[in-house]
Amino acid sequence: MKSLTPVLLLALGLITGSTAAPLEERDVQTVHLTFHGGPAEYSLAFPADGNVYATNSSIAISIIDAPDFLALTQCTFITSGEKTLASTITAQGLTQILVGPPQPITGVSCVGSCIYTYGDCYRNGQFLGQCCNGFCAANKCRPWVSPY
Ligand SMILES: *[C@@H]1O[C@H](CO)[C@@H](O)[C@H](O)[C@H]1NC(C)=O
Repeated sequence: MKSLTPVLLLALGLITGSTAAPLEERDVQTVHLTFHGGPAEYSLAFPADGNVYATNSSIAISIIDAPDFLALTQCTFITSGEKTLASTITAQGLTQILVGPPQPITGVSCVGSCIYTYGDCYRNGQFLGQCCNGFCAANKCRPWVSPY
């Protein structure tokens, strides 16, 4: 039987409004994003723990590189204006989020998980999860474009 302690800690965190530590740290993936606005860019690396991470940048962003996370569906990008997000894949096989109209992104939060390239997406006939930046074939996550 599972210990109740983490559940109680989470409940207390919710009651006090503090940011509770994730229950299973080992399962929290690190998200790497690179934000592009014209010739300017910045990169962030942060845990997919549901917390909001400030970008501290006022650059108007039009493209976000998402090499290792399902950012379109599993991340929230905070802006002051209305926006439409779409996803595309570059000729090099990199997943990018397109932001329209371009605008500053003040913070980002991500939650969940995905399978890294060449990780198992199926094992013993069981689906293990969506690929972060590619597709599932022959039980493994494959890059969108073959490097060979
Ligand atoms: C943004 O600023 C806050 C407060 O100074 C700091 O904790 C945080 O690390 C900064 N984030 C980045 C991406 O520099």
